Parts: sequence; structure tokens; C-alpha cells
Amino acid sequence: MSTEQRKVAIFGAGYVGLVTGACLADLGHDVVVRDVLPDRIEALRRGEVPIHEPGLDELLARNAGRLSFTTEVAEAIDGADFVYVAVGTPPTYSGDADLASVWTVIDELPDVDRRIVVVMKSTVPVGTGEKVRHRLDARGMHHVGYASNPEFTAEGTAVRDFMRPDRIVVGAFDERDADAVVALHAGIDAPVVRSDVASAEMIKLAANAALMTRISFINEIANVCEATGADVVKVAEGIGLDRRIGKSFLKAGVGFGGSCFPKDSLALKQLAANSGYHFQLLNAVIEVNELQKRRVVGKLRERLGTLRGTTVALLGLAFKPNTDDTREAPALVLAGRLLAEGADVRIWDPIARSSELHGVDQVDTVGEAVAGADAVVLVTEWPELADADWGALRATMARGVMIDGRNFLDPDALRAAGYEYEGIGRAADPLSGRAEPAPADRR
Ligand SMILES: NC(=O)c1ccc[n+]([C@@H]2O[C@H](COP(=O)([O-])OP(=O)(O)OC[C@H]3O[C@@H](n4cnc5c(N)ncnc54)[C@H](O)[C@@H]3O)[C@@H](O)[C@H]2O)c1
Repeated sequence: MSTEQRKVAIFGAGYVGLVTGACLADLGHDVVVRDVLPDRIEALRRGEVPIHEPGLDELLARNAGRLSFTTEVAEAIDGADFVYVAVGTPPTYSGDADLASVWTVIDELPDVDRRIVVVMKSTVPVGTGEKVRHRLDARGMHHVGYASNPEFTAEGTAVRDFMRPDRIVVGAFDERDADAVVALHAGIDAPVVRSDVASAEMIKLAANAALMTRISFINEIANVCEATGADVVKVAEGIGLDRRIGKSFLKAGVGFGGSCFPKDSLALKQLAANSGYHFQLLNAVIEVNELQKRRVVGKLRERLGTLRGTTVALLGLAFKPNTDDTREAPALVLAGRLLAEGADVRIWDPIARSSELHGVDQVDTVGEAVAGADAVVLVTEWPELADADWGALRATMARGVMIDGRNFLDPDALRAAGYEYEGIGRAADPLSGRAEPAPADRR
């Protein structure tokens, strides 16, 4: 692969755009990142990073000489060989992906008198590339190339995932564009999958669907373990060692969230439905996940009786550790359900905060969250929770119900510290001191 330095314009200074920009600059390319948010661009120019992603600050600082930030389309496109589209594609009310920002980028592209390649990093429905191709052709921009180069990085490990990916997927209409995108990644040692554009788009959606399916699968196994007395942690170990199955994404818990899985599963479901196909398995995966988030409330009710008037501490707000992203976080659903049940809810997270949490105390320390609480729910497996002084914390609680929604803590140690400990899919402590059910609970 060539190591030629290229100029790359990136549209979208979010999780994907910034990581892509910083990593491509680190590979030696000149990168301009464009966003529509002036505050975000100003902050980046001052050297402030608007998102939490391990290693990103250092990478941006180290490559500052090859990186610039702008709100202006013309400035970004000036001399660019590639236009990366890394804007959000959130769900619409119908569940389809909202491509409004993608179309804005495409429609705002000025015509240029040289070959540039538009590269789609955003996750889009199959068929989007073809529509973009038609739209560019309709404007007479036949010389502008198009490639799909989906992103598989996970928040929290995105920099590492970009620089050491399992694979690089490139789908293009013209081999020249695929060659150019592959060459841009010179320096990264990974298998390259070249395909047509539709298949590249489907690879991204199908990869996410496969991962979600494993999560919902192990969560259902966990629920059956609870009903039958098996331990899902042992079961996952036992099946994960099978080379045909593998260990990853076999952790039972409170369900998946985040900015990608929920919306991408909906988008794939709608894509299939719009094409006349009922994707039964994916529908089940989504439904299992919704129910899984709510099971914790059932566990609390079993132990505390009515939740009205109780205080519940949620530990973890981000949808997973090492990110400040709270989009579709299970903690938001849990908090909402608990409030609806009449509980007082406090939530601790080391970095994430949410403006969507009305009526919930967002506190800065685990101690503040659990003091006087009846129950604590571990929602996000932040590493610092492994080292918390659970004995001292227990002493401050009104009652020591602990639901470990990630099977993260040592059950024996927690029981020894005085908790009524219950994980997901594992033997639970016998119920003790159950409160009388409220009238509404007797149905
Ligand atoms: N977050 C992830 O880990 C991840 C992983 C793989 C794929 N993806 C996909 O990548 C895409 C981007 O995700 P994200 O999490 O980075 O989104 P994000 O919301 O963090 O960032 C998107 C950015 O695009 C900006 N934007 C909107 N319109 C614009 C325009 N016309 N020009 C320039 N910037 C514009 C927004 O202001 C925002 O800063 C989505 O399609 C997502 O599904 C995300």
C-alpha cells in the first residue's frame, strides 16, 4: 500500500469523526474536521476535547500540526482528496435511520474540478450509497467517487480499535475509489474486505445485529438459569471456550444500550420490513433487551415490596464504562421505571451526566449515592466500583439490597459485607424481610 500523504475533510466532530480524524492524522495525513456546532469547533481549536474517549486527547495533541477544525464547508473541502461523512444517523419515529444530516453534507458539497472520494463512515441503510451516487450524478458530479467504509470501533476503545481493527471494509462503485480508501489506511495492519457498496453497508448492520443477538441470547440463558438454579457466569465460561462459539459478548446483564445498537437494530428491522421481510429473530433480540432492562425493577420489588417511598442508588449512567455517552443507556430506562414506581432515585457516574434525568439526583460520589438508600443497583461496570469499600458503604445504607446488573462484584465478598446480593442469572440470596405488597402490587 502507498504511504502517500493525502488531505482528508471529515464532516462531523463527534465520536466517530474525531477518532477518525485523529487516527488519520496520526497515519500522516492532513485532516480538516468540519462541524456545524461553532462551540464544538471553538473548543477543539483551543485544544479542548468535547467527548470522553481514552487516548483521544493525546492523539489530537500529538497531531495538532496536521489537524484543523472549521465550521466552513469551503475551508474543509479546499484541496481535499477525501470527504468523510461521520454525522449522526439517529432513528426517526418510524424507526428508520434519519439521514437528514447525511443529505445535508452531500447537498452542500461544492463541485470540484478534480477527483475526490466521498467516504461514508456513518451507519446507513443498505441502498444509501446508490442514492448518493444518483444524487451526485444528477448534479453532474460523475467525477466525484463514492465509497462505503463502515466504522466498527467501540466507544471506550475507539482509538485502539481504529489503529488495530479486526478488518477494514471498503465497498465502492469504482475500483479506483476502493484502492484510494485502502491506501489511505497504509500503516494499519488488518485484513481488508472489498465489496460492492450494498454489501459493505450490510456488513455493518449485520455485524451489530450479530453482537446484539449474542447479548440477548445470553440474557435469556441467564433468565432460564435463574429459574432453574444454574449460574450463567459458569455457563458462559463453559460455552465460550468452544472455539466455534468464542467468549466475547456473552456477559449477561441489564441489556444493551448506547448510540449504536438500539438504533441500528431498529434501522435494520425497518429496512427489512420496508423491503417486505419480517425479521423475526431481530425483533426477538430487541424485545428481549427491552424486557431485560426492566427485570431489575422486578428483582427490587421482590425484595423491597412496593418501591414507593424507598431510595434506590443507581451506580453508573453511561451505557458502558470508559465513555460519557448516555444515549439509550439502560440506567435511563431504570431510573424512569423506578420513579414511576414511586422510588427516590440517585445516580452516580464518574463522568457521565444527563439532561434527560428529571427528578433524579445526579451525585459525584458513590458514598453520596448510597447513603441512606434501601437498595443499590450496579448498572455500569466502572472499574472503580471493584475497589469501593463496600463494607463502609453498607454501614451508611438503610437496607443492603444490592442488585449487580453486570455480575461485576464478588458475591461472597458482598454477602460478607452485609448485602442481600443478587446478580443476573445466578443464585440469589433467599428473600428476607420482604415488605408487605402495596395494594397495586397484589394484582
Ligand atoms: N459512536 C460510535 O461508537 C459509532 C461506532 C460506529 C459507527 N457509528 C456511526 O457513526 C455515525 C456518527 O456517530 P457519532 O457517535 O460520532 O455521532 P455524534 O452525534 O457524536 O457526532 C455527529 C456530529 O456530526 C455533526 N454534524 C451534523 N450535521 C453536520 C454537517 N452537515 N456537517 C458537519 N457536521 C455535522 C454534529 O453536530 C455532531 O457533532 C452514526 O451514523 C453512528 O451510527 C458510531
